[in-house]
Amino acid sequence: MEKISVRGGRKLHGSITVGGMKNAALPILLGTILVGDRCVIENLPEISDIRSALDILSSLGATVRMIDRTTVEIDTSNIRPGTTPYDLARSMRASYYVVGAELGRYGTSRAACPGGCDFGVRPIDQHIKGFEALGAKVDVVDGCITCSAPPEGLTGASIYMDIVSVGATINIMLAAVLADGMTVIDNAAREPHVVDVANFLNTCGADVSGAGTDVIKIRGVKKLHGVTYAIIPDMIEAGTYMMAAAATGSELTIANVIPKHLESISAKLEEMGAKVEDLGDAVHIYPSEGPLRRINVKTMPYPGYPTDMNPQICVLLCLARGTSILTEGVWENRFKYVEELVRMGASITVDGRTAVIQGGRPFRPATVKCSDLRAGAAMVIAALATDGVTVIENIYHIERGYEHLVEKLQGVGADIKTIDTPEDSGQSAV
Ligand code: UD1
Repeated sequence: MEKISVRGGRKLHGSITVGGMKNAALPILLGTILVGDRCVIENLPEISDIRSALDILSSLGATVRMIDRTTVEIDTSNIRPGTTPYDLARSMRASYYVVGAELGRYGTSRAACPGGCDFGVRPIDQHIKGFEALGAKVDVVDGCITCSAPPEGLTGASIYMDIVSVGATINIMLAAVLADGMTVIDNAAREPHVVDVANFLNTCGADVSGAGTDVIKIRGVKKLHGVTYAIIPDMIEAGTYMMAAAATGSELTIANVIPKHLESISAKLEEMGAKVEDLGDAVHIYPSEGPLRRINVKTMPYPGYPTDMNPQICVLLCLARGTSILTEGVWENRFKYVEELVRMGASITVDGRTAVIQGGRPFRPATVKCSDLRAGAAMVIAALATDGVTVIENIYHIERGYEHLVEKLQGVGADIKTIDTPEDSGQSAV
């Protein structure tokens, strides 16, 4: 089993280029099912979740051809709906987008309920509510979701989301694009990836308006056509490297970003004493002049501070002087990683969705595990800020969502490497 070994305590310097956004790329790739034509998707991140999505498309009968490392050509003219292999559907959360896309195009779908990171209960009731409002019959039996439209097809409807859900907003959008008439999604998620999916669909000939606000209107069209489309940069990957810079007191440029998407992250870093300069398509991080300052953080749907940046900022709060409070406002159980940081010497108490962090204690090296994708990124940040060698296990979580993390950090001077055997862990990390 591969691990990551980090000899921390070094400053980082130079520039890291961010890849395409995982959580936009997945629904756009699976959204090509709706198109029934040839699409070229550019700026894909090189991560295992993308390979899983392409495997799903191939298994359904699509023709999938990599043009280069980050560009794929997909032809979904001939799809066999309802044939996603169980294990592939279970391998990631975003597999639920197959259901919205198949239902939208064929009026029928069947897939295993999705997997993904374990943050406690991850219901799909809002997806189902949306599909049913469009007229579909939906059954969830033995871990499989089966949907079928009435003989006359899906019909546009007004849907009020009881909870702000990225996945349900996008999935309903996918299902409604070819439905008859107007669909209105109220209390919709406003994340940049929702907007990116809407832009992709509109480029293909859909009629979606309001994405980025909490009311999205989808006027059904008869048919979509193939396009070439480039995915937006990954704000969570960017934010993760911004935190790595702040945790190590480094000056770093994060290139290929949309600074607007990073505002909540930049605001928190500045509150802690770091400085973030907007360079248009990059941000430059300057270290805090004194020790990092304690702050309180609550994760929220966009434009609030993102839940997918919860573990990373927790590392900074451990380094900041004083007591900070980190409240999780999206997921039921996002603090599984805390015990790993405690293993590194952190003082954190979790009560339900709130963590109280007594900061200002340096981390000590340890062997730690990634409990999920973003938790894995947090372990790397903590290790970079720790004198001595930290070994990080279960890195397959990191590989699901961060392209070339080790190489990117080596490129800015980190002493980090992937290791295969425990014996390597005491040696120089690079
Ligand atoms: C997506 C992201 C994930 C991120 C999350 C919130 C992908 C593949 N994953 O997950 O990284 O943490 O957005 O930004 O894009 N909920 C319900 N019923 C539903 C759906 C969701 O109650 O039918 C609840 C969830 O339990 C959670 C909240 O809504 O408490 C937000 O979940 P949602 O936005 O749907 O997350 P995902 O789209 O699954």
